[in-house]
Amino acid sequence: MKQKIIQSIRIIMGFNIVSVFTLITSGYHSFLKACYRAFVAAHMVDITELSAIPQISLDQILGKVRPTIHMTIMSSENGRVPSDQAIAIIAILAKEQPKEVLEIGTFFGHTTRLIAENLPNGIIHTLDLPQEFNSKGDLKSIPKDDSHLIERRIVGREFIGSIYEKQIRQHFADTATWDFSEEGEPTFFFIDGSHTYEYCKNDSEKCFTLCKGRGVFLWHDCDFGHPGVVKFINEWRTMGRDIVRIEGTPIAYWKSF
Ligand SMILES: C[S@@+](CC[C@H](N)C(=O)[O-])C[C@H]1O[C@@H](n2cnc3c(N)ncnc32)[C@H](O)[C@@H]1O
Repeated sequence: MKQKIIQSIRIIMGFNIVSVFTLITSGYHSFLKACYRAFVAAHMVDITELSAIPQISLDQILGKVRPTIHMTIMSSENGRVPSDQAIAIIAILAKEQPKEVLEIGTFFGHTTRLIAENLPNGIIHTLDLPQEFNSKGDLKSIPKDDSHLIERRIVGREFIGSIYEKQIRQHFADTATWDFSEEGEPTFFFIDGSHTYEYCKNDSEKCFTLCKGRGVFLWHDCDFGHPGVVKFINEWRTMGRDIVRIEGTPIAYWKSF
């Protein structure tokens, strides 16, 4: 409840001409997000924190490898990774060819499906909160952001019934309490669940332990609107982990070996 009030106050304080334009062009949910981000940008993320994470191009990450990727352009949806950003994720995936992937934050399953499409012999574990999860009754766990996304998701809608479903293992749990070791041996991680500092840290550390420190990590929403993600990534960087941002995207990347 307290979290919800704080979030509402931030949205009201972030109201500006750009958010009104977003309301007209992209609808109500994007409007709320624009207000929230305006507040955060003005009050919470020190520009030096974000720019402390260096940027490199996708080209540099791929090096000499020129992967062919399959890209189904699915309808745009507030809360999903847009297709132009997904290209970077899929290109790195195609370069690395992991046997098992773990995605945190299935949502409608847009990225899950793209990963499966580009890894025909791979297994994709994807995790989201139980469909019946209700933010209002969630008093015991770590506070989550994005309650508007949690409330309207249909988990896995984009791959259920498709030819990709057989490669996908859907898990339902809260990452705060999920035993990550229950599931396979992924070495490629796409972290896009709750974007608070506490959750980003929890999810990343558990992924790190799961792959025994040898993995490829991608985080979505490493940007002004998500100070928790930026803070966490800077923390890992101070430990000598050379995480970078992929130019032109809010995606952070790290290959630990
Ligand atoms: C931004 S969406 C993911 C979008 C998806 N990667 C895509 O682009 O298609 C975040 C998802 O994470 C889920 N989520 C949030 N907190 C979570 C938690 N603690 N444990 C598991 N899933 C969580 C939400 O329910 C939501 O569906």
